[in-house]
Amino acid sequence: MSVPQGHGEIILVADDNDANRELLSALLSVEGYQVVCAADGQQALARVDDGSIDLALLDVVMPPPTGFEICQAMKTKAETRLIPVILLTSLNSDSDRLHGIMCGADDFLNKPVNKHELLARVHSLLRLKQFTDELDNAETVLFSLALSIEAKDPYTEGHCDRLSRYSVALGEKLGLPQDLRVALRRGGLIHDIGKLSVPEHILLKPGPLTPEERKIMEQHTVIGERICAPLRSFRHVLPIIRHHHEKRDGSGYPDGLKGEQIPLTARILQITDIYDALTTDRPYRKALSPEKAFAIMREEVKRGWWDARILDEFEIIVLASATLQPAQSLS
Ligand SMILES: [Fe+2]
Repeated sequence: MSVPQGHGEIILVADDNDANRELLSALLSVEGYQVVCAADGQQALARVDDGSIDLALLDVVMPPPTGFEICQAMKTKAETRLIPVILLTSLNSDSDRLHGIMCGADDFLNKPVNKHELLARVHSLLRLKQFTDELDNAETVLFSLALSIEAKDPYTEGHCDRLSRYSVALGEKLGLPQDLRVALRRGGLIHDIGKLSVPEHILLKPGPLTPEERKIMEQHTVIGERICAPLRSFRHVLPIIRHHHEKRDGSGYPDGLKGEQIPLTARILQITDIYDALTTDRPYRKALSPEKAFAIMREEVKRGWWDARILDEFEIIVLASATLQPAQSLS
């Protein structure tokens, strides 16, 4: 007798045919899976929205919404897009498969269902889901840690979130591909995570830092990169974390990179970082107006610090949005 493969994962079986539903349910229950059933599309959607299922087995043809429609709805929602979907079809035509793929289905099973094929696919998709869940958890922990640094300083509240939104808008304006825009969103939230290693008396010191304290503070770029390096999904975020304090004339840190050597995503984030710092209240001064902030940053461009083209594009975005909505709600 074979050892059950399941560990109580919850599988949704949606099929309007009672006999099919019972058969699938019995096969999966014996293997150690928990099964929840739905007899039509509406019931299936309600089960999906409960938020507890680990995998969905959906009959393609059933009272609406159809399996295709449910699959598509699941794959377009952030909360359900990582749940594997297997479509059950007796149609077995290429166009149905194509339609299923377009809807985001992870796999297909032909009816009548072959027991071994069913269990093999369910098992391998659940194993994959376990990996993505772990990745999801690791990212969530990193974001929470990054926000805990922000929470130490009341003057920086909301800074990371705004930075994230400004940077994505700027990345879009500059025509960056999707993966780099995702990196900018993550980078905005997480770029200072290395400050976890900076003692609070240095991190929150109101006056200027001594040369030794400055050295410790500057390490946050290198340590942040090290913290995030094991996550493959963060590979495009690492250059942002490491290089967001470089300057075009080579006077920045940690590597003293010059001009175009500084990754474009890091140059984008530093523009939005400085702008946000200038336009929010600080212990030593009130928030500056956007015009004043841009005037200061232009002076710094002349000194050889920032990328003039990126600053121009960012100014266009901010000025355009200021007439329509407050800069804070830029998305
Ligand atoms: Fe930083």
